[in-house]
Amino acid sequence: MGIDSDRQGEMSNWQELEHKYSMPTFERLPVTLVRGQGARVWDENGREYLDFVAGWAVNSLGHCHPAVVGAVMEQVQALIQTSNSFYTIPQIRLAELLVQNSCLDKVFFCNSGAEATEGAVKLARRYGKLHLSGAYEVITATGSFHGRTLAMVSASGQSKFQQPYIPLPAGFVNVEYNNIEAIKAATSGKVCAVMLEPVQGEGGVNLPDDDYLAAVRAWCDQTGILLILDEIQTGVARTGTLFAYQQYGIEPDIMTLAKGLASGIPIGAILAKDRASVFTVGEHGSTFGGNPLACSAGYATLKFIIDHDIAGNVKRMGQYLAAGLESLKQKFQFITDVRGMGLLQAMEFSHDIARSVMMACLDGGLLVNKLKDNALRFMPPLNIGNKEIDEALDILKKALSSIAS
Ligand SMILES: Cc1ncc(COP(=O)(O)O)c(C=O)c1O
Repeated sequence: MGIDSDRQGEMSNWQELEHKYSMPTFERLPVTLVRGQGARVWDENGREYLDFVAGWAVNSLGHCHPAVVGAVMEQVQALIQTSNSFYTIPQIRLAELLVQNSCLDKVFFCNSGAEATEGAVKLARRYGKLHLSGAYEVITATGSFHGRTLAMVSASGQSKFQQPYIPLPAGFVNVEYNNIEAIKAATSGKVCAVMLEPVQGEGGVNLPDDDYLAAVRAWCDQTGILLILDEIQTGVARTGTLFAYQQYGIEPDIMTLAKGLASGIPIGAILAKDRASVFTVGEHGSTFGGNPLACSAGYATLKFIIDHDIAGNVKRMGQYLAAGLESLKQKFQFITDVRGMGLLQAMEFSHDIARSVMMACLDGGLLVNKLKDNALRFMPPLNIGNKEIDEALDILKKALSSIAS
């Protein structure tokens, strides 16, 4: 299924071939996936798994959702790529849908999260040049993650991503997360923006204190600097509203999206309020960004999410999953914390057993993500139901019991 038929006989060698030909940047699980449907995937031997990784919070509607597959099949036969020298309808329709359903006014499309955040920083620097006497620095938070380009490694406040690449591009100030005074202290005349994830995903599923984002917004208003919200992981209903900012009573000046926007077809987007939308012709660009194929997948995904109140399902199922994880915490003393928002949940352990628990889940037929050596992350498709969550919790419980014994 999807594998070149000449090579069927080599199936069991795929992992060996990967080691031979690919750069060893990823810590992969010993599973070669060949097919997915809804919240389930199958490996090359036909074994089925419940997928609570969802392409790292990408498969919003699960694998191969008919609405997305239909849109992609139709578009792939009509027009795949044109360059941005021309108008294309899927790009315009997706931009309109995003603007009509957010507080932002203008959209620029790219191909990934890192490209979106990097572009957002460029936009803030342009704003700084035009309106803030050339200010160019961006304040970011410790524990944040904004992508893997050199500049975004510099923006991400985690030394494990930064150390291998020092010296890093200048122009970023990493300050303590959840500390408004640290942002205030770092706001010199050189600062043009603050960039934050509403909930830090890769950094540990770290939630902001209740008043933190409102305080940052007020500080940005007071000083005239921009607020960039990186909603690459939290956006597109992952936390229970279409965008996470809606739960904090604030609006960003710039927002970035990627991951779940097109259910797995690569896409990224920078959204901005009119006043912050300062790029002019030639100041930014992309060959593939906004191509008809990705935008038709994005439109189909977002339209389905909006029309079927998938955010409501995320709220309900997020509470259900969190309650289930919490009851496991009551049972196993080595679980020290359960936290999250919507269908972005984490479970932390008193010691470094995340890999063992993840492998035991894999044995039981459940895919989960190792967030840290002592924490797991759960980010199933947004249209998941109670039954699948029950099944996952059951496998997780058995995995935890096997570790405990
Ligand atoms: C909040 C956030 N920003 C940016 C990125 C980078 O996205 P990408 O891997 O598509 O470049 C990620 C990826 O995990 C993310 O979670």
